[in-house]
Amino acid sequence: MKIDVLTLFPEMFVPVKTSMLGKAEEKGILEIRLTDIRDFSNNKHKKTDDYPFGGGGGMVMMPDPIFGALEHIGAKGKKIIYMSPRGKVLDEEKVKELSQLDDLVILCGHYEGVDQRVLDYWEAEEVSIGDYVLTGGELPAMVLIDSVARLLPGVLGNENSAMEESIYSGLLEHPQYTQPREYEGMPVPEVLLNGNHKLIEEWKFRQALRLTKARRPEMFEAFIADRERFTKAEKKIIDEVLSYGDEVLKDDAE
Ligand code: ADE
Repeated sequence: MKIDVLTLFPEMFVPVKTSMLGKAEEKGILEIRLTDIRDFSNNKHKKTDDYPFGGGGGMVMMPDPIFGALEHIGAKGKKIIYMSPRGKVLDEEKVKELSQLDDLVILCGHYEGVDQRVLDYWEAEEVSIGDYVLTGGELPAMVLIDSVARLLPGVLGNENSAMEESIYSGLLEHPQYTQPREYEGMPVPEVLLNGNHKLIEEWKFRQALRLTKARRPEMFEAFIADRERFTKAEKKIIDEVLSYGDEVLKDDAE
C-alpha cells in the first residue's frame, strides 16, 4: 500500500517510520511518502497561509501550494483524506475499508484549516479521530496510518492478531496475563493455567462479555442482538452475564 502524506511538518512523522511500520516499509508492504506543502508555495517567502475572508481568528492554508503538491504526487483518481475535527469519526470499519486500497493520500491541515476549494475540487473526505481539537492534522494522520497499516497482511508478527481482536469481533478484549504465575500476591486466574482449552475459551468469552457490558453497553447490545448465531454453550454464558448486575467487574466470577 502506498500512502502519500501532504504536510507542513514532515519532520513530525518519525513514529510511522519506526517500530512495526518502519519494518513494514523495509519489507515493502507499505510505502509512506512525505511531501512538504511549503515546497509548492510560489510565494517568495514560502508563505502557505493567509487571513480568512470574512474575518475571524487564525489563518487559513491557501489553495495554491496544496493544489501544487496534490498534482505533483499524482493524486487525481486516488482516495484523498483530509484530517479534520469536522469529519466523521474514524472507526474500525473505516480503517478496514481504507486498508483495502492500493493508494491513499492524506492531507494534514494547520491553523484554522484549508481553503474549502481544495476539499471541493479534490473531493477530499474529511476524517476526525475524535471529538477533541488538536493543533494540526499530523498526529491524526499518524493514528490513521497506524490503524490502517496493522491490517495489511504481514505487518503484525502474528497473522491472527488483528483478526482476533475485540473491536473486530464486536467485543472488548478479555484481560491478558503472562509470567509470573503469582506477582506480589496476585495470582493469574486458575483456569488459564490448567490447559483445558474449552474452559479457557469460555472464560475469555465471559470476560470479554462482562467488560463490554460494563464499559460499552451499546456495543454489548449490538453483539447479542442476533441470538441465533450463537452456540448453546455461548448462549448459556451470555445469559449468565446478562444476569449479573452492574457490578460485573468484580474479579471473582470464573
Ligand atoms: N485536526 C485537528 N483536530 C483533529 C481531530 N480531532 N481529528 C482529525 N484531525 C484533526
